[in-house]
Parts: sequence; structure tokens; C-alpha cells
Amino acid sequence: MGYDFDKPIQRTGTGSTKWDRYPSKDIIPMWVADMDFQAPEPVLRALRDRIEHGVFGYTGVSEELNNVVVDMLGRKYGWVVEPGWLVWLPGIVTGFNIVCRAVGQDGDDVMTTTPVYPPFLTAPKLSRRNLISVPLRSGDDGWRFDWDRLDHRCTPRSRLFMLCNPHNPVGRVYSRKELGRVVDFCMRHNMVICSDEIHCDLILDTDLHHTPIASLSPESSDRTITLMAPSKTFNVPGLGCGFAVISNPGLRIRFKKAMEGIVPHVNTLGLTSALAAYTNGWDWLTELLRYLRGNRDLVQQQLEALPGLQTWPVEATYLSWIDTRRLELNRPVTFFESFGVGLSDGKDFGTDGFLRLNFGCPRSLLTQALERLSRAVRTL
Ligand SMILES: Cc1ncc(COP(=O)(O)O)c(C=O)c1O
Repeated sequence: MGYDFDKPIQRTGTGSTKWDRYPSKDIIPMWVADMDFQAPEPVLRALRDRIEHGVFGYTGVSEELNNVVVDMLGRKYGWVVEPGWLVWLPGIVTGFNIVCRAVGQDGDDVMTTTPVYPPFLTAPKLSRRNLISVPLRSGDDGWRFDWDRLDHRCTPRSRLFMLCNPHNPVGRVYSRKELGRVVDFCMRHNMVICSDEIHCDLILDTDLHHTPIASLSPESSDRTITLMAPSKTFNVPGLGCGFAVISNPGLRIRFKKAMEGIVPHVNTLGLTSALAAYTNGWDWLTELLRYLRGNRDLVQQQLEALPGLQTWPVEATYLSWIDTRRLELNRPVTFFESFGVGLSDGKDFGTDGFLRLNFGCPRSLLTQALERLSRAVRTL
């Protein structure tokens, strides 16, 4: 079946977080990470059927859904997982806030690397932990871990390392070697790993593959809580459904205990969409990835041609990370908004002077946004 990713879909008036930010202004929203595409037809069909049934009582996770996920992890990533290791969640941000509460004690340290998806930076404090954030190194070889600084900043109270792989916002797909070093580092310092792998199905480089860090070895599995979801892959984040994979029984008990009385069941339609997506959404994903590669190349090509901006190859995700520091703007987000493009502020990701651009939209809209961006830079 051919999917039409070029088709513009009106999202204003649907309560969209992304589109409602600029209700009465001519600003193209390219910030929060959802795409302006309809979900796969098999997902839409399953939701229609479920709605037609008309009764929306409390809903549990079916054995079928658990088995579909276990099969998928084995087939796609060669990762052997047991159904009992899965803990379903209404959201991945919920998941890593729960991890922060489940690991260590009040006042312990949680480490992560910046720039990073903003809730990584707020979850430790919300969980009465201290955040230790260590900048990634950006060089000619792209964004890499800075091992010396990580070792140097680690404390005896560092209990948890929060990893984002593939990385939002720098778009890296970490190699097995890099992930092996993360595991060694966390073993040496006795830290649990929380690995947010929500973007794992959105690998744009055809010669790269996602490796779940927990799949590297029994030791890595034993100290890792992996978080995954159909939400980014199949563009259903508004349906609130994801899962943790925790092989270590002690960690799993602590995680479930921290959820008790606070985290609600996953909603019925979220579960319906997950089953349909993981069962019948893969052809759509193949076509989506082809389309996103085209968008990524267009962004790369146009931004590279502009003086004063730096970008990096986007190996995965539909997000471009842009260094605007050489433009010496006081407020980069406001500057580009005044030319009609709404971007995410790097400051929220722990790095001033950068912007994040979401290219998960029809090419016509992306082209228009890039023209505006280019006009803005050329006025300087
Ligand atoms: C790395 C990462 N983790 C988690 C989320 C959000 O997950 P959820 O909406 O399930 O809380 C996002 C959304 O942009 C993300 O990029």
C-alpha cells in the first residue's frame, strides 16, 4: 500500500500541543517531537473497530501484545526477552521518573550527558536526587561521550546513568563499542542504566543498526531498565503507551513498587494502537523512513549552505540539532520565530545557543520553513 506523506493535514483545532503554540501567528511549528503524518492505516482501522465496540472499561495488557513485543525485539534486535520482563507504562517520561525513584536513596546522584531531551534534566530533582550532567564532546567525528569527564564527575553516590539511544537531540545511533564502554563505566561505578530507546525504530542511516544496550551481555541486562514505545515510531504519542524491559527481578520489583498508586493503567486505545502497530505497521514504517531520509537530506543540504550554522548528520530520529552560536543571537528562538519558524530552544536541553528542528512533516511545509530560515540568516 502506498502512503502519502506529502498530504498536508490540518492540525489546528485538534488540541495539538505543537500547532497550538502559535494559534494566531504565521509561524510554522517545528518544535515538539511529533510528526504531522497520520498513523499507519492498520492502526487507524484497529482504533475505529475498538471505538465501534463502544465499551471502554478498564483494560489489561493481553498475552498477545506481550508476545508480539517479545517477538519483535527478537526479530529486529536479536534481543531475547521474556514476557514477564515487560512493565507497561502510560508514558516514557513517567518511566524515567519512576526509575529515578526506584534506584538509590534520596540525595543520591543521577548522571546523564548533555545536550539531552529536557525531562532527563528534571527527573532527578523531581525524585529528590541530584543531577550530574556531563557535556558530550562534539568534534569532526560528531557527538561522542567524554569518558575522562564522566569518570572525573562520577561520585560515590552516583547510582544511575541515564542514556538516550538513539540520542535526542544529536541524532546519534551509538555503536556496540560505545555502548560497551557505557556498560563498563556503569559496572566500574556500580550504577544502574536507564536506557531510553524510544527512537530505536527510526534509524535513517541504512548501514547503522540499533543495539539495545541490555542485549550486549547478561551483565548489561542485569543492570539496565530499557524504555521503549510505539509512540515515536508510529506517530501515536497522544495515545500514551510504552513499556519498560527489566530482566533483573529485584530491579523490576523496585520499579513496580515505585509505580504503586501513582501510575495509571495504560489507556485502552493506547494498547489497541500498540498491538496494531507492532503487528501490521512495518510496511508503513519502511515508507516513512524513506520519506524522512529525503527530509533529512534536504535540511542538511540547506542548512550547510547557510553561513554561521553548524549541523551534524542525523543518523536517527526526525530531529536536527543546529549550532547557531556563530550568529551571536541574543535569543535564537525568538529571532527565528520573528521570521515564521518555531524551533526548540537548546537551553532546555542543557546547551545554550543551539536549536532543534523537527523535520517530521510534509516536504512542502519543510521547504517553506527552510526558506524562512534561510531568509532570516541572510538578513544578518
Ligand atoms: C528521548 C525521548 N524520551 C521520551 C519522550 C516522551 O515520551 P512519552 O511521551 O511517552 O512520555 C520523548 C519525546 O519527545 C523523547 O524524545
